[in-house]
Amino acid sequence: MSAPAALASPFDLADDAAYRAWRGRKLASAPTFSEELVVEVTDPLRLTAAERAAIVERCQRANMAVYATAPQTGHGSEVPRAIGAQLGLRTLDVNYLADDDGITPLAATDDGPRSGYIPYTNRAIRWHTDGYYNPPERRIRAMILHCVQRAEAGGENRVFDHELAYIALRDANPEFIAALMQDDAMTIPARSEEGEVARGDQSGPVFSVDADGRLHMRYTARTRSIAWKFDPAVHAATAQLLQLLDHDPRVLRLRLEPGMGIVCNNVLHDRAAFTDSDAHRRLVLRARYYERVQTA
Ligand SMILES: [Fe+2]
Repeated sequence: MSAPAALASPFDLADDAAYRAWRGRKLASAPTFSEELVVEVTDPLRLTAAERAAIVERCQRANMAVYATAPQTGHGSEVPRAIGAQLGLRTLDVNYLADDDGITPLAATDDGPRSGYIPYTNRAIRWHTDGYYNPPERRIRAMILHCVQRAEAGGENRVFDHELAYIALRDANPEFIAALMQDDAMTIPARSEEGEVARGDQSGPVFSVDADGRLHMRYTARTRSIAWKFDPAVHAATAQLLQLLDHDPRVLRLRLEPGMGIVCNNVLHDRAAFTDSDAHRRLVLRARYYERVQTA
């Protein structure tokens, strides 16, 4: 008996027809303005069918949505937890710096074990996807950033759908994609930015295709605590990626106000430096999940 024909994948470099069809649909539906991502939510603990559908629709189009609740509803980890659960996000990635419930408060702190890591400072964080240093069995496919309090100034996020990054790179040169799909394209030393204690160096691809056929991306624009493969093709591809993250018109800017949050399939994002005041001390709750946002 012959094996069943493999399903066409847009991420197969040998299948240009599948790529062109997917690319056309993706570009036609990609949002132009960050306002298109926003869904007003009355009670985050109980989304209406229409609210949930609106969030899911944006995640299908753009791999991300922004929910906006009234500021007074957004003070506890129950909000991102409930939003996630209603979107099929159930398995939280827990690291030793997280609170016991697996949802991590991100705020500038002067002391304690967190103070040595950039997310817990008021400094800018360069482009990355979350958990790029995780081993494959703890791959982060979705995450939520929920704003409890904004900074006095700064702290905005830029976001970029990783599928659009894939398209920009493949259109520029398919060799960029081949280079970044190599299993040893990127290596993270055993101990990394957020104090994760890994079993050893984590080597892996930047782009990979999950069992469900969806594209996954591991990336950081950091230059410390990361070793790129010594390969001219990888060097050229990462240089091109950095260039497009700074210049692509589809990069969106978000300023989360209290009660707002982003839920996404771990898209590329960064964070601007910020300044706190007594009235506005930035606090963002972060939840990372192994599942993608459920679209059914
Ligand atoms: Fe992040």
